[in-house]
Amino acid sequence: MEKTQSFIASNKNRFLNELFDLLRIPSVSADKKFKSDVIKAAEFLAQKLMAAGMDNVELMQTEGNPIVYGEKIIDTTKPTVLVYGHYDVQPADPYDLWVSPPFEPIVRDEKIWARGACDDKGQTYMHVKAIESMIVNDELPCNVKVIIEGEEEVGSSNLSPFLKKYKEKLKADVVLISDTSMIANDCPSITVGLRGLSYLEVEVVGCNRDLHSGVYGGAVANPINVLCEMIASLKDENKHITIAGFYEDVRELSADERKALNLRPFNLEEYKKELKLTDVEGEKDFTTLERVSIRPTVDVNGIWGGYIGEGAKTVLPAKASAKISMRLVPNQQSQKISELFATHFKKIAPKSVTVKVTAHHGGEPVITPTDTVAYRAAAKAMEKTFGIVPLPGYEGGSIPIVASFETILGLKTVLFGFGLDTDALHSPNENYGLFNFYKGIETIPYFYKYYAEMS
Ligand code: BES
Ligand code: MN
Ligand code: MN
Repeated sequence: MEKTQSFIASNKNRFLNELFDLLRIPSVSADKKFKSDVIKAAEFLAQKLMAAGMDNVELMQTEGNPIVYGEKIIDTTKPTVLVYGHYDVQPADPYDLWVSPPFEPIVRDEKIWARGACDDKGQTYMHVKAIESMIVNDELPCNVKVIIEGEEEVGSSNLSPFLKKYKEKLKADVVLISDTSMIANDCPSITVGLRGLSYLEVEVVGCNRDLHSGVYGGAVANPINVLCEMIASLKDENKHITIAGFYEDVRELSADERKALNLRPFNLEEYKKELKLTDVEGEKDFTTLERVSIRPTVDVNGIWGGYIGEGAKTVLPAKASAKISMRLVPNQQSQKISELFATHFKKIAPKSVTVKVTAHHGGEPVITPTDTVAYRAAAKAMEKTFGIVPLPGYEGGSIPIVASFETILGLKTVLFGFGLDTDALHSPNENYGLFNFYKGIETIPYFYKYYAEMS
């Protein structure tokens, strides 16, 4: 990989400028008004895959946003790596909290600042440039196929049908994804577990119209009050979730497993300081590290109803709504948890209101194995470029398609992320370290080398 590495070293500026071009495209999948930019980002990546020397590059249409595909088959007797990434990003709102505009990337303090800088344009683009570097220098040691989708941030609903339809075309030996975090730049890690997700919307309706809060207040149910009471009751005083059956399938870790998990470097005071928290809170008898990785959650993501305009309006609202997410751990199932929630929520509703529950997207929790050639190759690659053996670790976020890679394509995944929890994913001022971007590009070729050698 010597030629590849010196090529990377002498092309750093170009790689960064190209990433900036990609970051300037506001490919927000959640908002229809960005549809043409979403397509633009897909076209941009297709063009870059072609320029990287990949073959059969195309935008593959789905019911939603297109999937960018490319491949380089050097020898059909060699193993094939399937790289996955996403070019869509979360909405950048609220814009006024950004120090520099979200779609005008800039380097400040050795970091790239932009929506998608880390999640997942920056991390996906590391692969495009690593692959280019290997192809150009004739050092690609095995086959590679790339799929980059545009609907990860809205639940990847068209990706599973795509995997089913193109099972043959996507045939590979392992999936490689950079869309997760490491513990720290001086403490590389490989993610071996992600949480699943159930996402629902609830609506509580009281009367048939907004009422005068003096004329009717005190005699009819206020849906906002009721919704708040219902939500508050979803956890007890120990922050244990009260939904009947919720913990039924949760895999409890052994004392040894918990001990190992808590060995990873973590400083609660620094954690609080970074988030300007007065204190943490969470499920009793579990550490912060456990609460954000191996324990399930229920959280309100948004809540609305009544009057929120300027001044005051004395109104007793007719209805109130909330968006609710639950993060799931092995062996909970998204569909089952959504049903348990709906049943429970309707059951605890007082007679004075009616409740509607609608399910949004979901995803299954995953555990990826460490006893595979691919994991060992990834660990060896990180050891080579960081000089430190990476630790395996669980993370709290979700990448729903990982479970489908296993169930539909029969493939295990390596979660080869180079981000940090402090990169402000989904928040204002998302950023990605130049160190991380370049380290990723340098490390990825070694994964291919060791994977090909060890297979
Ligand atoms: N890349 C993240 C997931 C992630 C972030 C995993 C950090 C581990 C560490 C991904 O883009 C994401 O945000 N996923 C969504 C899932 C979804 C269905 C919208 C999530 O976790 O909320
Ligand atoms: Mn992502
Ligand atoms: Mn994301």
